[in-house]
Amino acid sequence: MSLRAAIRTIPDFPKKGILFRDITTLLGDARAFRKAVDELVQPWAGTKIDKVAGIEARGFILGGAVAHQLSAGFVPIRKKGKLPHETVSMSYTLEYGTDEIEMHVDAVAQGERVILVDDLIATGGTAEGAVRLLQKMGAEIVAACFVIDLPDLGGASKIEALGVPVRTLVAFDGH
Ligand code: PRP
Ligand code: MG
Repeated sequence: MSLRAAIRTIPDFPKKGILFRDITTLLGDARAFRKAVDELVQPWAGTKIDKVAGIEARGFILGGAVAHQLSAGFVPIRKKGKLPHETVSMSYTLEYGTDEIEMHVDAVAQGERVILVDDLIATGGTAEGAVRLLQKMGAEIVAACFVIDLPDLGGASKIEALGVPVRTLVAFDGH
């Protein structure tokens, strides 16, 4: 069972020249989905993790499963304007321009051990925003976990430079 083979590649989406790595095929394959979640959590099985933070939208799917597996709570990190209670926000860099992510001000407590989850790390801009947001709220980020790494874009190194260990399962070169 190969996670790599379970990921579908769509050329020229969302625009010409981009190879889109589509995890819906992995998610729809029961064995691949379980294997991905098992491999993401494997280093922390049996350790105390208070919360798993997932990044909207694809990080919610994997993050929820990871939280369940680790018997941890789940924290949604959302795009701006979606959360109803008082929020803290952080802007982050996109390929062109910036965006903002938010979480509830009481979503993590000072010193809580948190694992950050998303489906993919590319430039690392989104994950960096999430790491900075969690750190601002006093979380101890145990690791950041992604199914897919695009190493040519340098995202994982960017997150490790913030002092957060990174776990990725499948790398695609030449994004
Ligand atoms: C994609 C992906 C990651 C992010 C990675 O999400 O799911 O969250 O981009 O890119 P980066 O490392 O360069 O920041 P996207 O913003 O397309 O939204 P979605 O998850 O809601 O589909
Ligand atoms: Mg995303």
